[in-house]
Amino acid sequence: MALVAEHTDPNSSAREILAVGRLSKLLPENAAEIAILVSDRFQRLGIGTELMRRLVEIARHEKLRRIKAEILPENTVTQKLLARFGFKLTHSIQDGVVKGELALT
Ligand SMILES: CC(C)(COP(=O)(O)OP(=O)(O)OC[C@H]1O[C@@H](n2cnc3c(N)ncnc32)[C@H](O)[C@@H]1OP(=O)(O)O)[C@@H](O)C(=O)NCCC(=O)NCCS
Repeated sequence: MALVAEHTDPNSSAREILAVGRLSKLLPENAAEIAILVSDRFQRLGIGTELMRRLVEIARHEKLRRIKAEILPENTVTQKLLARFGFKLTHSIQDGVVKGELALT
């Protein structure tokens, strides 16, 4: 499932998508991979945090057991965001990524 944040220009009434948050089910385990993307112009306004909050809430409602994420080691902004929501972060030297996991049950 995906959440989409839109912005309407007050002058032109043009609409644009400014952020997307997605939970992709991981089968056969009862888990999902999380991904959030906020357009550069709209970053640092709390939108990423709000999407994260809503996606975690939806995952709990759907009774998922865990949420996973894979982030590049240099992406410290996302690592901080995930840690704030209680994700456990592990550096996978073998894969060259940081793996995040939030247990929900
Ligand atoms: C990670 C991302 C989703 C954060 O979205 P956002 O809307 O900017 O996040 P928020 O405004 O809620 O900010 C969350 C925190 O990160 C900080 N932050 C955001 N962008 C930052 C930047 N470029 N540099 C330093 N800190 C930054 C904010 O200041 C805030 O911390 P604070 O509460 O201590 O001030 C966004 O940067 C993004 O889309 N990045 C590219 C895609 C990506 O890496 N997605 C993650 C895959 S799961």
